[in-house]
Amino acid sequence: MKLQTINGLLSAKYLKRAADIIVPEKMFSPIRTMNDELDAAFSELRGIIPSQVVLMTGTPGTGKTTLASLIASRCHHSGHRPGVFLSYEMSDFQLKLQAKKIPGFENLLLCTEEFHSRGKEGLHELHNLLVESQPSVVIVDSLQKMAAKMRIPSAQEELVSFFTKFAKETFIPVILIGHCGKDGSYAGPAFLKHEVDSHLEVYVDKESRERFFKFSKNRFGGTTDPYVFRITNEGVFVGNEWWSKPALVDDAGDTLLRAAIKDFKSSGSTTAKMPWDKFRVAAEYLVHDLKRRDANRFGTETYVSSPERVKMTYEGSRVYCEYKNGRLNFSRKFFEGFSTKAHLSLGYKSEKPTLQKYCKTREEAALWAILHEWVHLFKGYEKHTKNMWSEIERYAKDYNYLWA
Ligand SMILES: Nc1ncnc2c1ncn2[C@@H]1O[C@H](COP(=O)(O)OP(=O)(O)O)[C@@H](O)[C@H]1O
Ligand SMILES: [Mg+2]
Repeated sequence: MKLQTINGLLSAKYLKRAADIIVPEKMFSPIRTMNDELDAAFSELRGIIPSQVVLMTGTPGTGKTTLASLIASRCHHSGHRPGVFLSYEMSDFQLKLQAKKIPGFENLLLCTEEFHSRGKEGLHELHNLLVESQPSVVIVDSLQKMAAKMRIPSAQEELVSFFTKFAKETFIPVILIGHCGKDGSYAGPAFLKHEVDSHLEVYVDKESRERFFKFSKNRFGGTTDPYVFRITNEGVFVGNEWWSKPALVDDAGDTLLRAAIKDFKSSGSTTAKMPWDKFRVAAEYLVHDLKRRDANRFGTETYVSSPERVKMTYEGSRVYCEYKNGRLNFSRKFFEGFSTKAHLSLGYKSEKPTLQKYCKTREEAALWAILHEWVHLFKGYEKHTKNMWSEIERYAKDYNYLWA
């Protein structure tokens, strides 16, 4: 049946009927990263597609090396072979020190040998090394650094085609790190972005000063939503992991909430701007605690069937909690703009007396704003009525330490 209608010599050799092409089974088993959002960003099959070539760009210091280490470490965690990290920006011990907080990093295989400086022969050796070690993913840090050692005019093109060929042959995905100049444009031939399957941008959000990543191009149909990634003393978090980290969910949440509130309130009053970062953390803990304590009210008394569906999301300068009829929307601009007398001017006219009874500082008024939005979750409290004020006051009394 093959090539029924095309019998010429050349066509028999070079043309295949689409129907006869068998997509390798491997293409349908993406490499999972143990993070739903990261998986959804990489492909619509959820995970890194075997053979996927990703160009990761960003200005120096945005966190490319960190994010790539994080992704590779997670691939290993999820039951795949360890990734190989070709590190030419940093020595292996520098990289190890920098990535010490990333769980799973200790299992990655690091390589600092500059095969590429020995031309085609060197690249051939690198190819053999990678084939032999069969990693789950290869990280290249960075294209520019490798290209500089090759001393040929189109070294970046050569490298991209080398790694693309490798990925397509072996079904091992490759993440190529590339620097952007200070103005944010890619420091290399522009067409490289078209050569690769996916383009992942890493950047620092101007307003929140948080680090984000997002795919701006993806042949495998992943999402293009921006996701935050954080490395803090508490751990490493990608996207919404922050909101569901175990420390927040367990019953000790209350202790953490108290600590966050204390930290927020003690840092604020002396500064002109309300301390957004501290507020955000306090807000997160507070909403988590509210979800936990009101779990049994969900499904009947609220617009939402379960606490899980009140999902905290974080986008640049806004933190919000989504539910059916609206959002608990904590905007950086709004809160940072609070004057030191905000507690006196904030609130609806009929709300002012209760608000002022509890809130003696602008920080307390900001916490009040969260309770206010929270109460709107409940049926019958959509409007600003006496009922609503007394409901907020009930929360205010229960959370007496918010105002202490
Ligand atoms: N999400 C993050 N949270 C906190 N610090 C980070 C984060 N990502 C990177 N860093 C820190 O920022 C610095 C630069 O990160 P790095 O990954 O080396 O950036 P790049 O490779 O883009 O130059 C390092 O000190 C790193 O530890
Ligand atoms: Mg780097």
